[in-house]
Amino acid sequence: MTELRALLGIEHPLILGPFGGLSSTRLTAAVSDAGGLGSFGLYGYDGDRIRATEAELRALTGRPFAVNIWLPRGDEVEPNPQHTIFAQALQPFYEAVGVELPARPERYVPSLDEQLDAIWEIEPAVLSVVFGVPSAAVVAEAHGRGIRILGTATTVAEAVALAEAGVDAVVATGAEAAGHRVSFLRPAEESLVGTFALIPQVVDAVDVPVIAAGGIADRRGVAAAFALGAAGVQVGTAFLATAESAATAAHRDAIRSTAADETVLPGDERAPGSRHAQPCGAGDRGERHDRPLPDAELAHRSLPHRGGGAEPR
Ligand SMILES: Cc1cc2nc3c(=O)[nH]c(=O)nc-3n(C[C@H](O)[C@H](O)[C@H](O)COP(=O)(O)O)c2cc1C
Repeated sequence: MTELRALLGIEHPLILGPFGGLSSTRLTAAVSDAGGLGSFGLYGYDGDRIRATEAELRALTGRPFAVNIWLPRGDEVEPNPQHTIFAQALQPFYEAVGVELPARPERYVPSLDEQLDAIWEIEPAVLSVVFGVPSAAVVAEAHGRGIRILGTATTVAEAVALAEAGVDAVVATGAEAAGHRVSFLRPAEESLVGTFALIPQVVDAVDVPVIAAGGIADRRGVAAAFALGAAGVQVGTAFLATAESAATAAHRDAIRSTAADETVLPGDERAPGSRHAQPCGAGDRGERHDRPLPDAELAHRSLPHRGGGAEPR
């Protein structure tokens, strides 16, 4: 425990999970100020937006914070003729609220290089990554600048691969975790180990500190994670329900009221910006779907997520 605190420069071994598209600078700063590690999800943020977010964070807290990026997997969807089909399907919704349909963008998300250039400039205390293993060059550059790197594993094999690549700690994220299933060695459907089965196995397999994530929402979950050998915990959903989060009131209410049987594992979601995901905070739209969604519906769900979604606050 002490090891992780010293490593990350924090007082409490508790990390606010990053929320790609839904992070709030207020919440990130609040967690860091309270002695934990606030994380901010930079999914879809270009260099300028990363620099602006850093300025906001530094104005709000003098404590260490983490930023988070998605490593490209090579299956990213670039703007293509299908975009027009999505746009046509969405046209009536835009017309209904009197908003002009946005033009087809040149790209949906900024490149990894653009994001990394900005991150090297802002030098956060911690960089966390999902959907893969950071390259040796990225690890070396981060370490050369005193930036700690956290990798995210959904299986033991992924944790080992990350540790071998030189990350400073591994976030072992069980199938309970909200957000996308960030598996990278095997398909998400084959990487659904539960948090409390995953933690002890990962602890046994790697020499770096292990941070437990997925379904931890109170002190009992924290105690259980530590009993299994975790050096820290990463909490997402429970923080989304706080006043500082960027979640809407409806989203917060849903988190507080959602019955466990409303948690869903969406099936074949391969629209741009969409990977195997648990609805944010379980049941974020208060609906279930146990069939692949039609393209137009997928587009409707995916488009707001692209480019980062909610404005940082
Ligand atoms: C809305 C939402 C977006 C998320 N986006 C990311 C992300 O971009 N990167 C990431 O590493 N984790 C992301 N996560 C996962 C969280 O950081 C955290 O690991 C997870 O929520 C922990 O599980 P819990 O919600 O059961 O506490 C997201 C989670 C939610 C709810």
